[in-house]
Amino acid sequence: MGEKEEAAVCGGTAAAQEGRHIVLVGFMGAGKSTVGRWLSRKLFWQLLDTDAMIEARAGMTISEIFAVRGEEAFRSTETEVLAGLARMRSPVIISTGGGMPLRAENRAALRSLGRVVYLRVKPETVCERLAGDTTRPLLAGEGRRQKVEALLTQRGPVYEETAHLTVDVDGRTPEEIAGEILEKLHIDR
Ligand code: S3P
Repeated sequence: MGEKEEAAVCGGTAAAQEGRHIVLVGFMGAGKSTVGRWLSRKLFWQLLDTDAMIEARAGMTISEIFAVRGEEAFRSTETEVLAGLARMRSPVIISTGGGMPLRAENRAALRSLGRVVYLRVKPETVCERLAGDTTRPLLAGEGRRQKVEALLTQRGPVYEETAHLTVDVDGRTPEEIAGEILEKLHIDR
């Protein structure tokens, strides 16, 4: 466990037990990390990013983990990291990797952590935002648009099923999106 994780864990009433965290889910390029940073600044809650936690734990980038260990091993690490978050004491913002809700056990764990917000994005926005990006192994190679559409079609219902709240992100600033989340979750800044 890294320093940041350590700082918010241990003893007392776990925030997760009260379901107080805010958990962001959604497709690659939806803006989970960026919106997470805005929420973190507005609420003075720490931001935890599961991909960053996995990279720190493995000492490798996500692409390297996929290449060396394979996707299933990555998914198992996601599940482990998620389980560790149940011990967080103070409320935090949790930004998750786009595939985190794929496992049923992860969906249940995400919902028990707190309010799950699905940042819904259109395929064209994903392709615009991720043009030139080489850090997403699932979108590597030719036919990115088709890959994004196929994955989004498959995952859309999974994200919806996981989330307590869905927010559309296309054409909106992170600040607007963060504002809507706080308003809809009835959280005062
Ligand atoms: C993935 C999304 C990525 C990262 C990994 C797999 C996915 O995170 O976890 O490349 O399956 O959608 P972002 O959603 O932060 O890009």
